[in-house]
Amino acid sequence: MSRPVPAVFGSVFHAQMPVLEYKDNAWQATRWQSSSEITLPPGAHSLHYGSECFEGLKAFRQAGDKIVLFRPQENIKRMQQSARILSLPVPDEQAFLDALIELTRRAADEIPDTPAALYLRPTLIGTDPVIGKAGSPSQTAMLYILASPVGDYFKAGSPLKLLVETEHIRCAPHMGRVKCGGNYSSAMPWVLKAKAEYGANQVLFCPKGDVQETGASNFALIYKNEIITKPLTDEFLHGVTRDSVLKVAAQMGYNINEKNFTVKEMQAAIEDGAEAILTGTAAVISPVTSFVIDGKEIAVQSTEQGNAIRKAITDIQYGLVEDKNNWLVHV
Ligand SMILES: Cc1ncc(COP(=O)(O)O)c(C=O)c1O
Repeated sequence: MSRPVPAVFGSVFHAQMPVLEYKDNAWQATRWQSSSEITLPPGAHSLHYGSECFEGLKAFRQAGDKIVLFRPQENIKRMQQSARILSLPVPDEQAFLDALIELTRRAADEIPDTPAALYLRPTLIGTDPVIGKAGSPSQTAMLYILASPVGDYFKAGSPLKLLVETEHIRCAPHMGRVKCGGNYSSAMPWVLKAKAEYGANQVLFCPKGDVQETGASNFALIYKNEIITKPLTDEFLHGVTRDSVLKVAAQMGYNINEKNFTVKEMQAAIEDGAEAILTGTAAVISPVTSFVIDGKEIAVQSTEQGNAIRKAITDIQYGLVEDKNNWLVHV
């Protein structure tokens, strides 16, 4: 049976969703409801004071109708970390994983064949209906999970132009590793400006020359058998794909060099033949084809190694090679 893939990423949802509520100082048993709407008090804490975070991960339909989730425990850990930093109740790992698995089972008939997938979007929001709580955390919260069939976000050979932004930051530096909505609206003015003024697809945020990440993905250089990327700090999101790329690349024989580097060093490496990649759940790896630095466009000479590392990861996701790292959870 061939299953349709919506034209717009994340625009169609499985009809039902699990809801895990936190009230009376405890997580309640998972309940199921329609995914078409939720009822919230207009004074809900998340709507006023940004007590909100989310996650993004995928389930794949492999040959023989085997359905797998890719590294869900990593997304659960990251949401737990976001919740702690936002002073939201921390979801219970097992109940969260059970809800992800059950949702994937219920949506199984809607999961397209690889390379398309089912994208899962857990969302945690503070629900206290008290607008006087600007300086205190929400005592109640709701975790719900949307499931959305999505096409292959990766378009082989398509141009990817990055505007290098050295003046502005993506978000407050202590919030970078939190996957919260506010960080995306914080980055929006620079992302829109980059598109309008330079026709750039993404902005690479490099405050004071320090190469960090784009508005929606991590960044790495592939240079002389090394993968070079910024070490984990509070300033940027600790991508699950970043971690997968570093592990798989090491297994392919690359040296992994997690170090701070500057725009000047990056430019010199690119001009000397380095590749550059974006990493994230949606496309796994997107090779960068050019940079705009100080108004000047600089071409990247090759995308070959990035594409090879991408294939090594998607082969695991699609069940084409052995899952040596135990990354797949069978549903
Ligand atoms: C700002 C940002 N950085 C990095 C990533 C990559 O994270 P992951 O590999 O877990 O998808 C994402 C998105 O998914 C992101 O929005």
